[in-house]
Amino acid sequence: MHRTIAHCVPEDAKELALAHHTIFSRGPVYHTIYAGVDQAIVIKTYEKRVSNLITEQTSLDPDREVHFLKIVGDGSDEIMAYIIWIYMPHGYDHAKDPQESTADFPADSNMPVVEDFKQMLRVVRGDDEGRKGPHFLLALLGTHPKHERKGAATMLVKWIFERADKEQLPCYVDSSRTGHALYERLGFRDFGKACVDLDKFEGGNGAGLQTWYAMKREPQKEL
Ligand SMILES: CC(C)(COP(=O)(O)OP(=O)(O)OC[C@H]1O[C@@H](n2cnc3c(N)ncnc32)[C@H](O)[C@@H]1OP(=O)(O)O)[C@@H](O)C(=O)NCCC(=O)NCCS
Repeated sequence: MHRTIAHCVPEDAKELALAHHTIFSRGPVYHTIYAGVDQAIVIKTYEKRVSNLITEQTSLDPDREVHFLKIVGDGSDEIMAYIIWIYMPHGYDHAKDPQESTADFPADSNMPVVEDFKQMLRVVRGDDEGRKGPHFLLALLGTHPKHERKGAATMLVKWIFERADKEQLPCYVDSSRTGHALYERLGFRDFGKACVDLDKFEGGNGAGLQTWYAMKREPQKEL
């Protein structure tokens, strides 16, 4: 088993957008937001967003570092999993959060769900003191269903730990129910949570309350 972690390049955007769609369209939030949109348009829009993130055109903080990483291997060039780790040198400021932008959503997206989701993120990010100083933020993580439970996500999450420990900085993630056990196993602990009630929205019938957990990993003392 040979695997490589590398920074994504703009040419990866199409494959990443397709993988992202396969991974996240299984989830009820994505489904509710994009139910009324042509799925080809959803993928195309995401491809552009990914490409901007890889080339870091969306950052409002020039000192921020976006590490959009992929893992390939096990005898194939296919992207098994990807992650976005962001170094936030000046702390978290939601006014500078690209996830606050609604420009990236195709027409006919369910914008009330997007607004509720953004409000939930502001709550879940809370005001943990560590968020106000330099830290690392895990902004996105996905493993292609074909490659789940092979340790790919674990490798991508751990990628930042050596640097975080060396610089004695905390790592944060806002986790869905699905990722929670993985992050907990890797040393993240809850400090807050918030919900989105999809039943309030058209297309969200029956999906109910979706919970997100604000989680933090303290830096480990280097021996
Ligand atoms: C959550 C997610 C990222 C996990 O990805 P993954 O690559 O399967 O994760 P790993 O293989 O590293 O670990 C997953 C589990 O497999 C187990 N595992 C790891 N290597 C394994 C192996 N070789 N054989 C069997 N099981 C293994 C781990 O112990 C882990 O168990 P745990 O979650 O109970 O702790 C993936 O399921 C996903 O993309 N889900 C949808 C999107 C999502 O929810 N993203 C995160 C939201 S914040």
